[in-house]
Amino acid sequence: MSKQSTPEHYKEPEDAFNERLLFNLVYCSQMSAGVARADVDTIVATAQRRNAVLGITGILVFGSGVFFQWIEGPKAEVLDLVTLIEADRRHEMMVILSTDEEVRERIFPTWDMELVGTEDIQEVLQDALQTAQDEKSVDALQLMLDKLAVVAD
Ligand SMILES: Cc1cc2nc3c(=O)[nH]c(=O)nc-3n(C[C@H](O)[C@H](O)[C@H](O)COP(=O)(O)O)c2cc1C
Repeated sequence: MSKQSTPEHYKEPEDAFNERLLFNLVYCSQMSAGVARADVDTIVATAQRRNAVLGITGILVFGSGVFFQWIEGPKAEVLDLVTLIEADRRHEMMVILSTDEEVRERIFPTWDMELVGTEDIQEVLQDALQTAQDEKSVDALQLMLDKLAVVAD
């Protein structure tokens, strides 16, 4: 009796679903005393190099000594990275604002980690909203824009 072989690319439905799951985490923190603006560029250069390998994308907003970072990618990689970032002495008082895992597209698919100034964040989110394809990303972006509007008021 011939044994039926499974095509190499075949994936169990559950595995295929898990592969499309995207985890995202948002936090804010305070730059530590003695850290200079130039250090932020060093952080971003390291982040872009490492995130590209890990399949992580996102944005780092920096202004008035405060960081705000949106990180998206596979859950295990994002959580390991956040543990590393939390231990980084260049910032302190880290507060995780939200975590989420669902099947949806990345909001920042081409940015390994883009540095955005607080004055530009509204425009970045509006641009992302224009190109967002799925409803969940539109909702997430709209929520962030609404929060920004409250802060700006
Ligand atoms: C605000 C902030 C954001 C950071 N974001 C990232 C990031 O997105 N990716 C990353 O690899 N490292 C990031 N880092 C740097 C990490 O904390 C860590 O220094 C870096 O990954 C290098 O780790 P290594 O020295 O073990 O190679 C960030 C650090 C700070 C202070």
